[in-house]
Amino acid sequence: MKKYTILILTGIIVILAVGLAGVLLFLKNQPPQERGFQPLVEIAPLEPDSSKWGINFPNQYATFLKTKTNSADTAYGGSSGFSHLERDPRQVILFAGYPFSKDYNDDRGHMNALQDVNTTGRLVLDRESPKRTPGTCYSCKSSNNPALWAEMGMAEYDKTFFGDLGKRIDQPIGCANCHETGTMRLIVTNPALQEALEAQGKDWTTFTRQEMRTVVCANCHVEYYFKGDGKYLTFPWENGTRVEDMLAYYDELQFKDWEYPEAGIPMLKAQHPEYEFYTADSTHYKAGVSCADCHMPYVRDGAAKFSSHDVHSPLLRPEQACGQCHSDVTYVIGRVKVIQDEVYATKIKTEDALVDAITAIKGAVANPNANPDLLTQAQAKYRHAQFMWDIVSAENSMGFHNPEEALRILAEATNLARQAQMLAAQAAADPSLLAVGIYDQMDPKPVPAK
Ligand code: HEC
Ligand code: HEC
Ligand code: HEC
Ligand code: HEC
Repeated sequence: MKKYTILILTGIIVILAVGLAGVLLFLKNQPPQERGFQPLVEIAPLEPDSSKWGINFPNQYATFLKTKTNSADTAYGGSSGFSHLERDPRQVILFAGYPFSKDYNDDRGHMNALQDVNTTGRLVLDRESPKRTPGTCYSCKSSNNPALWAEMGMAEYDKTFFGDLGKRIDQPIGCANCHETGTMRLIVTNPALQEALEAQGKDWTTFTRQEMRTVVCANCHVEYYFKGDGKYLTFPWENGTRVEDMLAYYDELQFKDWEYPEAGIPMLKAQHPEYEFYTADSTHYKAGVSCADCHMPYVRDGAAKFSSHDVHSPLLRPEQACGQCHSDVTYVIGRVKVIQDEVYATKIKTEDALVDAITAIKGAVANPNANPDLLTQAQAKYRHAQFMWDIVSAENSMGFHNPEEALRILAEATNLARQAQMLAAQAAADPSLLAVGIYDQMDPKPVPAK
């Protein structure tokens, strides 16, 4: 009898222990957002005000708020918003005749987006100016957008002048830019992304959750342009998202952002093509890693495990950002330094080639006897060279997101720039236009206008 009692008790204990272990394992493996949560308040669809969402999700909101005050810098990135023109005055030459030659600062945290667009020196607000800034510039800066797009339609939104639209915009980037109220799932909120995916025959509603952890960033971290007189926000992805595909698209359209002064070149400015660059077969992308894995790692606060919404440089929290997958964090962070230093040095060489080429083209344009066919060829090559360089330069990871692609593009850009220079010298039959290292001989060096 006693024997049986012990056996039964032992059995019960074993069953309880296994059951408990199972429950613990089950809980551990639950993606956090699938755990039942009790919404404290009802959030209206497309609610622009993140503080209202914050009542239900205090951890995500508290970390999100940190993007407002982050200011730490890294070797090539960080959150202080330093001036690219002061760090690298070659860019003052490369963007001559375009507002980026006057004001070009590094990106800061998401909560500063509205303030930064409202205060950038690049905008033309003058009511008399035909070049007045369109409302389109707010497209990636505010959580008021999804509600405004629903109400006005994107065409009307883009047509409205910046100053007028600004009266209806009082929120920086927020929850409504990435999440659907109620389900909290990640969604495409920007109509331009919706249309660009459709043009490629893609339907984001069929994407996996892991894919959405990258695609949600493509609402904003992409190359785009303003189409036609209505300044309609458009991603140039019809032929694909590689730099060559985008160049072919812009060439077919004969699109230009501005004309390079005294060189007659229809120029293109690259924006912030993190999505296109990362997805161009990078090691991490091919391995199924998402933007959110590195930039929004899971963090713990007591018993709560959630995605940090304090989005910034992963180099400032390598254990959280990389340590989830890499056991030797010191090693991979060391690799980042090697990659970024090499991409930076290569990028500067490309800039030298571009400065030499633009100087030669200006020389040839000033020569009335220059052969127009050769000159046109030189100008076309230059347009491509600078856009390719800019894809790497304007992309915010200094090559880390896709090191092979960065070096491939910079090599091609340098090659095209030198070809452009040779064609210009040939057009003008002037060997002095083959001079190299012109930037280093410049004295004084160009300084960005204040
Ligand atoms: C494997 C990890 C990883 C993935 C995946 C990743 N990034 Fe990054 N990202 C980095 C690192 C490392 C840097 C360099 C930060 C620095 O230089 O301080 C960076 C830099 C950035 C920056 C500039 C940050 C700054 O401090 O100025 C932005 C913006 C960015 N990434 C966006 C994205 C987007 C959008 C995606 C997806 C399309 C993505 N990243 C995917 C690791 C990653
Ligand atoms: C830039 C895009 C972006 C913004 C803005 C954003 N989120 Fe998220 N959020 C994400 C991503 C990415 C995830 C991870 C989702 C996943 O893994 O499926 C996430 C996950 C979540 C989750 C699920 C639990 C978790 O932590 O993984 C909640 C809840 C959440 N966010 C709340 C918020 C709230 C509240 C705001 C506004 C204060 C907000 N988010 C703003 C991108 C964003
Ligand atoms: C609604 C548009 C939008 C979405 C969606 C968005 N971003 Fe951003 N992001 C921006 C803008 C605009 C800035 C620059 C803000 C500034 O400089 O004031 C920025 C800045 C950043 C920075 C630099 C922060 C710093 O402190 O230097 C990183 C990193 C970043 N975003 C990563 C991401 C990732 C990863 C995703 C997807 C999970 C994402 N972003 C989704 C618009 C967006
Ligand atoms: C979600 C998982 C994941 C995260 C997060 C992650 N990595 Fe990786 N990383 C991988 C995988 C998978 C590979 C492919 C090589 C392999 O299988 O080991 C890789 C490869 C690398 C490589 C080698 C690149 C090459 O071309 O061979 C470096 C360097 C690296 N990661 C750095 C980082 C850094 C730095 C971070 C943090 C900012 C980071 N990784 C975050 C999964 C991850």
